[in-house]
Amino acid sequence: MGSCAVDCDSDSADESKETGSHYYYHALKYPCPPNLSVWWNMGSMLFLVLGAQILTGIMLTTNYSADEQLVSVSVDYIMRDANYGWIVRSMHMGGASLFFALIYLHVARGVYFGAYLKNPHVWYSGLTLYLLSMGVGFLGYVLPWGVMSYWGLTVITNMMTVIPGGARALDWFQGGFVISSMTLKRVFVLHFLLPFVILGLSLTHVLFLHMNGSSNPLGLDQTNFSVPFHPYYSIKDLAGFALLLIGFVGMTFTFASLTVDPLQWQPINKMKTPAVIKPEWYFLYAYAILRSIPHKAGGVFTMFAAIAGVAVFPMISGPEKFQSMKVCPLVRLVFIVWAANFMFLTVIGAQEPTGGWVLAGQFGTVLHLGALVVIPMVKMKWEMELYNRPEEESEEGLNTVTEKTVAINSTAI
Ligand code: HEM
Repeated sequence: MGSCAVDCDSDSADESKETGSHYYYHALKYPCPPNLSVWWNMGSMLFLVLGAQILTGIMLTTNYSADEQLVSVSVDYIMRDANYGWIVRSMHMGGASLFFALIYLHVARGVYFGAYLKNPHVWYSGLTLYLLSMGVGFLGYVLPWGVMSYWGLTVITNMMTVIPGGARALDWFQGGFVISSMTLKRVFVLHFLLPFVILGLSLTHVLFLHMNGSSNPLGLDQTNFSVPFHPYYSIKDLAGFALLLIGFVGMTFTFASLTVDPLQWQPINKMKTPAVIKPEWYFLYAYAILRSIPHKAGGVFTMFAAIAGVAVFPMISGPEKFQSMKVCPLVRLVFIVWAANFMFLTVIGAQEPTGGWVLAGQFGTVLHLGALVVIPMVKMKWEMELYNRPEEESEEGLNTVTEKTVAINSTAI
């Protein structure tokens, strides 16, 4: 860890070596920028919700049966007979929505404040976490074995057939030529195991973060002034936890099935395809993109490009002095359009794919993919404009990077 932010902070690092408690130092005295805003609370909140999901998931497992004949009985048992089973299940269902809402805010924070510039490893481990979480969320939706579970599983597993050998892989995964109890058991095993992989990778994600240190809302890489994580941010994270728990418990006790499709409460009829098959709200943007391409393999490919597209941010960017979008109004505008378009696609994904909705989906798809390339490119160009004008800089008498940055900063605030 040669370039470790922790080791670089010599005074505190020496202190930690003296006490011999490196772990204590990493956990509590990790040097943080003093100006982190609430947008830096999402990561710890994600940990809290992940913990709650694993705990409630294990509790549900003690009563759930992954068998086509028994699954509905076992879910009914959890909701009606098992002690506090309905609370545990509602928390698990609501927690999934909350988890994805937090992930989207966490990623948007990273894009807006350019956190991917300082920490590409953190960015890529985060993207892997998102992909794994999507897998777990999807598998979990299958477990209650409602109408949407079955047809959702049919649609998504059929995407495997677009790759060579995919049809055989599908049979292998299903445990036969059709979806059956065998498939449900496999879905359950994966849904049980993958969250532990997510937990391990989340810890690695934070370890990577500790190597280079956090970025900050101003977007300036200030390493010479920091405050220890504890007590400055430990108390802020605890305040975030309190607010999150209020929302979490409020949702669980009042609108437990707010986001669930009503068809999920009906028994499966394998002979009758519903008019609209759709996933939970957090996958609707991707689903809208999948359906907007009138070619199966093309749709699957475009959808994956749209989901994993944020991977290009660190690749397209240059050595930018200003990480954040704060000083670039044009990129801020593109960012707002990108975020609004995400919501637009979410609405489209829930509609029947006919007429104007398909056209709107295609428009949204182009906008989404375009923004993923435009954001880092315009940001880089803006930086070049700001820093590569020696005549103007000397006129203003701004010679050092710090002087220029302070000047830009004062116009931005
Ligand atoms: C299971 C999901 C995740 C967990 C538990 C998690 C956890 C955390 C935590 C605790 C932090 C430090 C506090 C903070 O900055 O909020 C952090 C930072 C960060 N995360 Fe995540 N994260 C997750 C997913 C993601 C995803 C999907 C991305 C992006 C694709 C991402 C990108 C980042 C980045 C860039 C930072 C560094 C921010 C900085 O420079 O200050 N994370 N994450």
